[in-house]
Amino acid sequence: MSKVALITGITGQDGSYLAELLLEKDYTVHGLLRRASSFNTGRIEHLYQDPHEPHPRLRLHYADLADGSRLVTLLEQIQPKEVYNLAAQSHVRVSFDEPEYTGLTTGLGSPRLLEAIRMIGLECRFYQASSSEMFGATPPPQNERTPFWPRSPYGASKVDSYWMTRNYREAYGMFAVNGILFNHESPRRGLTFVTRKITRGVAEILAGKRDALYLGNLDAVRDWGYAPEYVAGMWAMLQHTEPDDYVLATGTAHTVREFLEFSFSHVGLDWQKYVRFDERYLRAAEVDSLIGDASHAGAVLGWVPKVLAPELARMMVEADCAAV
Ligand code: NAP
Ligand code: GDD
Repeated sequence: MSKVALITGITGQDGSYLAELLLEKDYTVHGLLRRASSFNTGRIEHLYQDPHEPHPRLRLHYADLADGSRLVTLLEQIQPKEVYNLAAQSHVRVSFDEPEYTGLTTGLGSPRLLEAIRMIGLECRFYQASSSEMFGATPPPQNERTPFWPRSPYGASKVDSYWMTRNYREAYGMFAVNGILFNHESPRRGLTFVTRKITRGVAEILAGKRDALYLGNLDAVRDWGYAPEYVAGMWAMLQHTEPDDYVLATGTAHTVREFLEFSFSHVGLDWQKYVRFDERYLRAAEVDSLIGDASHAGAVLGWVPKVLAPELARMMVEADCAAV
């Protein structure tokens, strides 16, 4: 009998890599799909299995984190042993435009799921996609004991979800864990996050499709890692004997300016000739510096990241050049 997992956010960057990993490990994987007027399954197309075939191991269900009764019905039907809550309005800049919607999904999605699990008496392990954005203005290095000081509606909503997850663990003894993940990227990263915006920009400039790239704050420091390594960490957290919270990070720090340098120089271009400032990409409040200390995950889970920002930039530029 293969293990059954449910992934919310399966169509996103992390959801697609996690689905791949679990299918490789012989799980049956269920994923939530948001109904949209055009296809939003591009990242998992290569994993698609015809539902008419006998026993497909990837199954998609229409649902939205804002619809609590649908979550109850699905959890009862699917009876997953592991639930990975990755769905969210995940863009920090957009959360300033849509604070209420961000709270309804990024903030309230996890208590909806946790309460649904409790209501139907489901025995399962629960992973919450918490974020280094919760540390906000608290200076680095940041680990599991660092106080939160969120600087955006997104960060504040993730703090809400973090505490809800801990509360269900402490109040009801649920196996509920927070993965506090620092920025992780890949060729599947959304096109409006800064790393992918840069690497796609490089590819389009090289191909003569554009002559400038507009960005905001180049001084922000981030700890960028490689998404497939981070989803392996999520899985490891749910396999441990005890539920706990873990930071995943590389411990290395680079500015956006340095990521520009890594990316443009890989194809022999000088970024200063192409990058322009646009204030619309500034945030009402910025998170200046995120640098993680993942020693707890290293010691308990044996989790060690290998890919660092310079290699990540090269990998993403090459993938974008091939695609463009
Ligand atoms: P992503 O690419 O933006 O994917 C977000 C996923 O959530 C997509 O599948 C999206 O569906 C789905 N979603 C959004 N709103 C939903 C709703 N109301 N109901 C159901 N599904 C909804 O994000 P990611 O980079 O993979 O990140 C995964 C999770 O980790 C997110 O919770 C994010 O906040 C968190 N996180 C990410 C990072 C990072 O650096 N990547 C770091 C820390 C934490 P559509 O495809 O239909 O839009
Ligand atoms: N998106 C974007 N676009 N960011 C820009 C730009 C731009 O044009 N110009 C500069 N930046 C700066 C932002 O101000 C920020 O300081 C930094 O680049 C990184 O921005 P993002 O790539 O949008 O990521 P983020 O750090 O705000 O949030 C990501 O990481 C979090 C973990 O710390 C998201 O994946 C969140 O969902 C995740 O929780």
